[in-house]
Amino acid sequence: MGKDRLWRRLMELGTVGAQSGGGVTRFSFTAEERWAKDLVIGYMKKAGLAVREDAAGNVIGRREGGDPSAPVVMTGSHLDTVPQGGKFDGALGVLAAIEALQQMNEAGVATRHPIEVAVFTDEEGARFGFGMLGSRAMAGTLRAEDLTAHRDEHGLTIAQAMTQAGLDPARIGEAARRPGEIRAYVELHIEQATVLERHNLPVGVVSGIAGPLWLQFRLRGEAGHAGATPMCGRRDPLAAAARILTHIYDETRNFPNAVATVGKIHAFPGGINVIPGEVAFTLDVRDIDEAARNALESRLLSRAEEICGAHGIDLEVAELQRVAPAPCAPELMAAIEQACRKLGHAPLVLPSGAGHDGMQLVRLCPIGMIFVRSRNGISHSPEEWTSPEDCFAGASVLYHTLLALAEGRA
Ligand code: GLV
Ligand code: MN
Ligand code: MN
Repeated sequence: MGKDRLWRRLMELGTVGAQSGGGVTRFSFTAEERWAKDLVIGYMKKAGLAVREDAAGNVIGRREGGDPSAPVVMTGSHLDTVPQGGKFDGALGVLAAIEALQQMNEAGVATRHPIEVAVFTDEEGARFGFGMLGSRAMAGTLRAEDLTAHRDEHGLTIAQAMTQAGLDPARIGEAARRPGEIRAYVELHIEQATVLERHNLPVGVVSGIAGPLWLQFRLRGEAGHAGATPMCGRRDPLAAAARILTHIYDETRNFPNAVATVGKIHAFPGGINVIPGEVAFTLDVRDIDEAARNALESRLLSRAEEICGAHGIDLEVAELQRVAPAPCAPELMAAIEQACRKLGHAPLVLPSGAGHDGMQLVRLCPIGMIFVRSRNGISHSPEEWTSPEDCFAGASVLYHTLLALAEGRA
């Protein structure tokens, strides 16, 4: 039965890239990601889908419609993870989509529009500091220079990693789909926050997705002896970074919907008794309102410059990615709400703080998202959890939403 099958696949997929310290790590273009994609290709075939991989490594499973030339209804998510992430972020959206289409096939349901399940390559951006690679490629916005500008921890560019994985970076343009080719994109995802839990609801309807801005800060000062250099003479970039970080956390509280996170920080060369010569840290800033995010960004940058000036530190800030917030389409929200009602769930509308591939696909088609309750709102952590019942409730809402769209009723 569907619920058990969905859960079994989720748990099986969760073993791919499982870490001894807890959690799952599957970076793009690695053996773990390949293994996960191959496992999912097997599920797609069992579900009766025709499977192909595009030039970006996106895996696409297709269920034909009565009118093969009708625009496709697309669903899906991603299989890559953050370091030591959970079993549900991305994986649930892919497996719920396959489950929905397998159930349509088992019930012998015919639809006018074809339906495709997409597994998007590198949604998280964990490896190259530049996310949503597969969906950017599909939206036609991934440029050749993006593939050489971003590097992983070992200095490998996206293009080099693609080549190692058997893909040809020069052909990335072939992954682009034409506007009009996709009727709608609907993704199911765990909520990663506590709104549904507080309302005691298994599922919800997403109103829009907050936009991530990722910046890389580099502060250069003067390395020196930790014991022999007096405090007054130092140009210590970490002392400046500490003040910048404090300002980031304080200032962001003045913006009611903004969040800011420093998730990676390194001091170079990294010795207990060495004043660092250089400090690098990342900043992730988000808001559902782009103007508010821009205002916060400019306050953070101007204060960072002041602080570095006062410490005699050279500051360089590089933009890794700047993604605009994306509203969900009212007609798709209505279709999801209707599916919720049909299944007896109050259709609560809530925003997404996390980023998703739909943010790229808005260039091609209307987007919608179904959220499923997350335990304690925890995600990007081994503690991520959604019950089998809630997973299946979400998959059922997805089934009815896709069916309505593919039959041309919504
Ligand atoms: C992906 O999960 C993101 O929001 O960064
Ligand atoms: Mn995700
Ligand atoms: Mn994620």
